[in-house]
Amino acid sequence: MNIQQNISLKKYNTFGIDVNAERFISISSVYELQELLKQEKDLFLLSGGSNMLLTKDIKNLVVHLNIKGISIDREHDNSVHLTVNAGENWHDFVLWAIEQGYGGIENLSLIPGNVGTCPIQNIGAYGVEVKDTITKVEAIEIATNKLVSFSNEECSFGYRNSIFKNDAKGKYIITSVCFELSKHNHNLNTSYGAIEKELTDQNITNPTIKDVSNAVIAIRQSKLPDPKEIGNSGSFFKNPVISIELFNELKSKYPTIPSYPVSDSEIKVPAGWLIEQSGFKGKRFGDYGVHEKQALVLVNYGDASGEEIFKLAQKIQQTIKENFKIDLEIEVNVIA
Ligand code: EPU
Repeated sequence: MNIQQNISLKKYNTFGIDVNAERFISISSVYELQELLKQEKDLFLLSGGSNMLLTKDIKNLVVHLNIKGISIDREHDNSVHLTVNAGENWHDFVLWAIEQGYGGIENLSLIPGNVGTCPIQNIGAYGVEVKDTITKVEAIEIATNKLVSFSNEECSFGYRNSIFKNDAKGKYIITSVCFELSKHNHNLNTSYGAIEKELTDQNITNPTIKDVSNAVIAIRQSKLPDPKEIGNSGSFFKNPVISIELFNELKSKYPTIPSYPVSDSEIKVPAGWLIEQSGFKGKRFGDYGVHEKQALVLVNYGDASGEEIFKLAQKIQQTIKENFKIDLEIEVNVIA
């Protein structure tokens, strides 16, 4: 086993935070992972590093999950079942699927991160969540070192949520994810306003999965910073779900507040709007700040520390509470 000493994690997290790993190992097979678990169980798992904010050096053994490979398990007339290993880059997998003519994940184009972490937060964008295509999640149970699997139902998926953020947190290492994608008659989801507009602008009336993917890529590139250029972790907060009573109170004060219905008693409001109204959009403090085009995204312009960004996040939470009586929940995994 090739354990390296004192490795900077800057290039392993999309926020680009420079913390030190005392010990670091890259794992490329389930076998290697099981061998490692025989020796050591107190691990710090690192996949695409796209949904974490590191605020301190890591003392545990850092395990970079780099298990690659895609296999076709079976095909039906209209769908295909795939197993994708955890270390595959998410966007590369989306592009590969589109090239094969497989539909269902085109709206999730350009989301940073790896396949193995997509179920944890149930990645979602432009009207689609990954839970709609996942059939099974395979993982190693750390305590027993056995390979186990979770059906879609057992994953208890919700908005940016799953069992892996709750009861199963810290107990499993996801090694692969199984998907069912469509081969024909794709169920295209173009109802999201920005996608419709992008397709109309390009005079596309009968879009293919590739057209939808291209539209999503164009929208994301126009609004969201590319982590290769400006460090970030996508949406830093979840969109809060509030009571209808509170929403009506806010609506009378701020008539333009956007909203999405959730149930008879609850409504979701965009955190980006709340943060923008509170004056944080585009604010820069030294090497960190709030993105100028999307207030939900906190950014590292170079050498910011995780602590600085975390303090800014706490200040935003406090201000939103004072201004709107809403508790903003952090979506990114803060390692404090
Ligand atoms: N808005 C503002 N100011 C801002 C940003 C947004 O007023 O700075 C308003 C917009 O005008 C719009 C509403 O908020 O009325 C929603 O904005 P947008 O369509 O950009 O989506 P979002 O709710 O801010 C969510 C996801 C994104 C996903 C987009 C598109 C969450 C936490 N975020 O953002 O996901 O790409 O919808 O589906 O649900 C991510 O999770 O990392 C992520 C980028």
